[in-house]
Amino acid sequence: QPRKSLKIAVIPGDGIGQEVMPEGLKCLRAVAKRYNIKIQLDEHFADWATCPRYLREGSMLPEGWKEQLTSYDAIYFGAVGHPATVPDHISLWGSLIQFRREFDQYISLRPCKLLPGIRCPLADKKVGDIDFWVVRENTEGEYSSVGGKIFEGTEREVVIQETVMTRIGVDRVLKYAYELAQSRPKRHLTSATKSNGISISMPYWDQRVAEMGKKYSDVFVDKFHIDILTAWFVLRPETFDVVVGSNLFGDILSDLGPACTGSIGVAPSGNINPEGRWPSLFEPVHGSAPDIAGKGIANPIGMIWAGQMLLEHFGHKEAAHTMMRAIEAALERGGTGIITPDLGGAGTCEGLGSYIASLIEEI
Ligand code: NAI
Ligand code: MG
Repeated sequence: QPRKSLKIAVIPGDGIGQEVMPEGLKCLRAVAKRYNIKIQLDEHFADWATCPRYLREGSMLPEGWKEQLTSYDAIYFGAVGHPATVPDHISLWGSLIQFRREFDQYISLRPCKLLPGIRCPLADKKVGDIDFWVVRENTEGEYSSVGGKIFEGTEREVVIQETVMTRIGVDRVLKYAYELAQSRPKRHLTSATKSNGISISMPYWDQRVAEMGKKYSDVFVDKFHIDILTAWFVLRPETFDVVVGSNLFGDILSDLGPACTGSIGVAPSGNINPEGRWPSLFEPVHGSAPDIAGKGIANPIGMIWAGQMLLEHFGHKEAAHTMMRAIEAALERGGTGIITPDLGGAGTCEGLGSYIASLIEEI
């Protein structure tokens, strides 16, 4: 059941975030108009999560940011970072990481889909061959701060960092992954494990996968150790449908998967709080790209596709489908005058964004 009206906080951020965001909004407005979706896009967060704001005010976000964002269904986010003026750990931890943590966005979701007009780094793959999702646990697991150092600087130096898996944490990401798999024609879930080497937490993960699977008997589930799984991503990506992993494994797979399908400029990502207790966040995978910022040549597809994921997440299947078709058609038909330089064309960010918006209206 699609969400009737959506309230979205628009945060473009730094660098090319400011350039791709207007194109993302253009496309969201076009699709909202066509399908009569009530979508409120609030743009009064223009200097949030920006380095100029940090240099001026001493913080990436204003005080009370959490209260101000809580009532939104989602955050539509560009990119953050300007390492020449503000160190990355300050700009990212002061903004994006805060959203992910404070809003319990425990699912990180990334599509790995080969689009037309993009040179696949893997040989002999055609459009349609690669089309799967990576679901990553985004709050616990290997990325815990439990641990410490003793006898530092001596021969007896000891360093320990613990993996933390909770039943709630593991089960909720598995539930999401099973449901995603169930919604797709292949109904195939692959779990990333390493129970041959990590002999306590990973067998537990496997056990929860099997237990949860009893509720989804129509989903075919298999598991691979992470080492061979990364090899299969490269050697036979066409065999995957939905792949779920712990925080560390999911992190690796969610970079490797999209990398197998081409340009960094086109990949999107969702940071999701499935229950909607807090806003979810949709963003392109790429950063602020200071090397091309201000030139008007950034590829807006990552931003536009993130908007597509947002609509899909809130149940607007038809609108999301149309947006996806428009993106694919633009890549097929656009030609060098429209396609941006990262994909070998001579087009502009604005030109490609407008072209996709026009396709959304008519395709
Ligand atoms: P980046 O993704 O910004 O850029 C990497 C390379 O890809 C650059 O050569 C860039 O020109 C190119 N590129 C990226 N997006 C593109 C697009 N849409 N169209 C055409 N070319 C594109 O990663 P980098 O350079 O490592 O980081 C730059 C800044 O962005 C840093 O401050 C970093 O911390 C931040 N960052 C922020 C992220 C976020 O907001 N989610 C994610 C990754 C990096
Ligand atoms: Mg990563």
